[in-house]
Amino acid sequence: MTTSTETVSFTRMDEGTTADYELLARKFEPYMAESPDRYIAALEAQRHERSSGYPIDRCEHALQSATRARRDGADPDWIVAALLHDIGDALAPMNHDRMAAEIIRPFVREEVTWVVAHHGIFQQHHAGPMNGTDPDARERFRGHPYFEAAAAFCARWDQISFDPSYESDSMESFRPELTEVFARPAFDPLYVRPDEVLGLPSASGRTLDDDTRNGRY
Ligand SMILES: [Fe+2]
Ligand SMILES: [Fe+2]
Repeated sequence: MTTSTETVSFTRMDEGTTADYELLARKFEPYMAESPDRYIAALEAQRHERSSGYPIDRCEHALQSATRARRDGADPDWIVAALLHDIGDALAPMNHDRMAAEIIRPFVREEVTWVVAHHGIFQQHHAGPMNGTDPDARERFRGHPYFEAAAAFCARWDQISFDPSYESDSMESFRPELTEVFARPAFDPLYVRPDEVLGLPSASGRTLDDDTRNGRY
């Protein structure tokens, strides 16, 4: 963690000097390098939240989702998305999907950000018939280039990841993907790759087309 105690001279921003702002710029880079530590700490904190009623805590749900993504051969963008997709549960319970999406937006493919931003409404497809929400709410996005990826993300990695018997990879094992993704230059088109549609990798010998045809994703 950053330990330097050097500070700027001003108490209001409009009285700062060039040297002050150069100091802040110098401190920002090492601060950004600590992003993986902060996300890991935030996820670990979800282990200690009061019981949500699910059979596993939210941290374990994150690990299970990310492990499923990894075992399906997903790229780091998807793995980090699966790991962080519910990181906003405590601070933004009514729009937690949007909060997680804003965290990853500068660093991952646009498709991945869109999926995380909309996973709440796509998740309803699996619980809606039983919990009183509209299972077809996602239909408003039918035809969107990222629709199939969002459906698959929820079906294959999110909605099934409440299983206490599933053996997830450790939190520390995800540090390489976190480090890789958050070390990228922000909003670089090389990584954001707007309008590129890749979908999820096929899993267990299935193709996404097969799953879609069978209504399973
Ligand atoms: Fe969620
Ligand atoms: Fe989730």
